[in-house]
Amino acid sequence: MTSVVTALSHRWEAAVAACLEPMPNVTIVRRCADVAELVSVTATGLGDSAVVSADLRQLDLTVIAALRSRGVWVVGLHAPDNDGEERRLRQLGVDVVLPVDAPGPVLAAAVRDRSPVVTVPGVADPGRPQDAPVARDGAGGWRPAGPGSATAPEGRVDDLDAEVPLDPISGRVLAVWGPPGAPGRTTVAVTLAAELASRGRSVLLVDADTYGGCVAQVLGLLDEAPGIAAACRAAEHGDLDLISLARVAPEVTPRLRVLTGLPRADRWPEIRSAALERVLTVSRSLAEYVIIDCAFCLEEDEELSYDTEAPRRNESTLTSLAVADEVLAVGGADPVALQRFVRALQELGGVPSGPPRPVINRTRPSAVGGEPRARIAASLERFAGLSAVHFIPDDPAAADAALLAGRSVVEHAPDSALRHAIGELATAIAPDTARRSVRRRPSWRSRRGVRPTHG
Ligand SMILES: Nc1ncnc2c1ncn2[C@@H]1O[C@H](COP(=O)(O)OP(=O)(O)OP(=O)(O)O)[C@@H](O)[C@H]1O
Ligand SMILES: [Mg+2]
Repeated sequence: MTSVVTALSHRWEAAVAACLEPMPNVTIVRRCADVAELVSVTATGLGDSAVVSADLRQLDLTVIAALRSRGVWVVGLHAPDNDGEERRLRQLGVDVVLPVDAPGPVLAAAVRDRSPVVTVPGVADPGRPQDAPVARDGAGGWRPAGPGSATAPEGRVDDLDAEVPLDPISGRVLAVWGPPGAPGRTTVAVTLAAELASRGRSVLLVDADTYGGCVAQVLGLLDEAPGIAAACRAAEHGDLDLISLARVAPEVTPRLRVLTGLPRADRWPEIRSAALERVLTVSRSLAEYVIIDCAFCLEEDEELSYDTEAPRRNESTLTSLAVADEVLAVGGADPVALQRFVRALQELGGVPSGPPRPVINRTRPSAVGGEPRARIAASLERFAGLSAVHFIPDDPAAADAALLAGRSVVEHAPDSALRHAIGELATAIAPDTARRSVRRRPSWRSRRGVRPTHG
């Protein structure tokens, strides 16, 4: 017997209950009046499946994610012939999408079978033949089951049809993270993004630092509304697709799109985990490389709260790390920063995350003595067991000049030591982008008069 909780708008509530109640092996255990009741009822373990309607107030991505994380199978109902509601339900990630006038046996099968591949006889689903087997796609919608049915979009995003299924593995997500003390996460993220874009790759730079987002300022985008808040808001409402993401993540230089960050740290509750995850999933289809500038803190604070649905301070960082294919762990090159870095790597090992690639920034003899790379490499090997470390020299002239100009180091100081070191990092991350000019030794006399300092 499948126990079902329903949460539907007044428009459909009675009709759907009347349709479902007589069905065999299905019992409605609670008819919830609103989203709050639905969330609290399922939190107590009641309900194998939930039936929700697209027009239920406050139904969003976070609610659906909470239900699914509790193992509740979610069936979403939309008004007949309402494509907008149907699309919204798919983007919210419900398990099955049906029109609200689906026959009782079909609805009962949907709540009972809990199968990602089902045959729904007699229900028209635009874009697929009647009675064909269907499967959930990466965006929570249906696609024909079988290999090769999800296609990667190509060409300019403005030409894309929002209905094109997303290819969940097209873009590579790199999270740039590191301990507190401003080791250079933003500098590495921005410069690496600009470097990969200069090599002909499409890049989306995401400012997910909810403590001190500053990518917009670093790139001179002072009038930008926070793109990440807009994208997450759209994701929460089930309105985020490739086109709407591209709209809030404008191209600032050729091939480099930016999703700007929150201008104030107290707006952090606007970035919820499920929404950011959806943003990053769609981002993979928008750019070949998605580079996230993360905040430092990994503390999980839900143990301090009885309300497990409450926003968590660091969920944007934890989600970014969990989604990332690779984490660039950035540390500073002085004794205090190095000690923090070693501790931070231990902390990173305690949370779900992609494999870390250690990057030591601002390498300079004045902070650790002669031959700083060899010294730092030896101590990181000894204290953290790290053998492959990337080094980026201290280059205040290039970094400051670029900041002052509001441009990336790649644009503003292309021959600087800083740019060349990030170029080597880009080659290590994406070997197919390597080019001769980037591997060249940096010249001391920069074209723009920026004289680099080598570490
Ligand atoms: N290799 C470098 N050489 C010289 N200056 C650098 C280098 N890397 C970063 N900086 C400078 O160090 C400062 C801090 O860098 P950045 O903002 O990238 O750090 P962060 O880790 O993002 O800090 P936050 O904690 O504020 O997010 C900036 O002024 C930046 O220009
Ligand atoms: Mg930063």
